[in-house]
Amino acid sequence: MEPRLVMVSGGARGLGAAIVRRCLADGHRVSVGARRPEAVAETFGSTVHAAFFDGTEPNSADSWVAAVARDLGPPDTLINNAGILRMVDFGQGGEAELDEMWEVNVKAPFRLIRAALPHLKASGRGRVINIASTDGKRYRGAAAPLGYVLTKHALVALTHAVRHQGWDEGLRGTAICPGAIDTEMIADLPGATPKDQRLPPDAVAEIVALLLKLPNQASVPEIVANTRLESAL
Ligand SMILES: NC(=O)c1ccc[n+]([C@@H]2O[C@H](COP(=O)([O-])OP(=O)(O)OC[C@H]3O[C@@H](n4cnc5c(N)ncnc54)[C@H](OP(=O)(O)O)[C@@H]3O)[C@@H](O)[C@H]2O)c1
Repeated sequence: MEPRLVMVSGGARGLGAAIVRRCLADGHRVSVGARRPEAVAETFGSTVHAAFFDGTEPNSADSWVAAVARDLGPPDTLINNAGILRMVDFGQGGEAELDEMWEVNVKAPFRLIRAALPHLKASGRGRVINIASTDGKRYRGAAAPLGYVLTKHALVALTHAVRHQGWDEGLRGTAICPGAIDTEMIADLPGATPKDQRLPPDAVAEIVALLLKLPNQASVPEIVANTRLESAL
């Protein structure tokens, strides 16, 4: 497997950190975009390139991509992992929380893809992996806040746009749609899948590792890894 230069948003903790560890173990070079780049150094030392990236600050998408190209060379892989969950439904939450989720979960990946696209296409083997959710595949009721569900559906749509817009240049995109993952995000979430039934972050990182091994001829638009038994998912 030819090593990659992988950008991981929100890679200092949670699922992102598991993905970074797995990428390093597989011999890839990694840049993490994080609100606190110093947290990346605390976790990974100097093995990982760190740059400022905040999903609510539009310019930070361009500046992170530029920093990677300057310091490491053109990236061939972008993993949109950073995401937030806010309790927004018809009966709870407000515009501010809804807007924040759109910013971080949808607009930030859009901006990162837009900024990285020339590099990803030029590599001839570019990859975009978007960490969506089973909540990006269906609405299962009030236990999953509607605002979050909307943003994850949009992230799946964004993934399909990537596939179409970079196909001839070897760019492939995948939306990974996991059920509950055992991270801080859902530690206190009422009605979440019981802890012993949640996906370990390393299991999702394993899916990423598989995707990064595949040739252009194996396009994988979506991978659902459900923790629940549901029809069709
Ligand atoms: N946990 C689940 O059950 C589950 C299930 C399916 C999908 N997912 C998705 O998996 C992804 C990773 O989530 P997780 O479970 O690892 O959650 P987490 O432990 O809460 O981590 C969230 C990550 O996103 C980063 N982040 C949050 N707001 C940001 C912002 N404004 N700008 C840049 N980075 C920001 C955080 O960085 P800081 O350290 O700066 O806060 C952190 O690295 C998310 O997209 C989430 O929606 C999670």
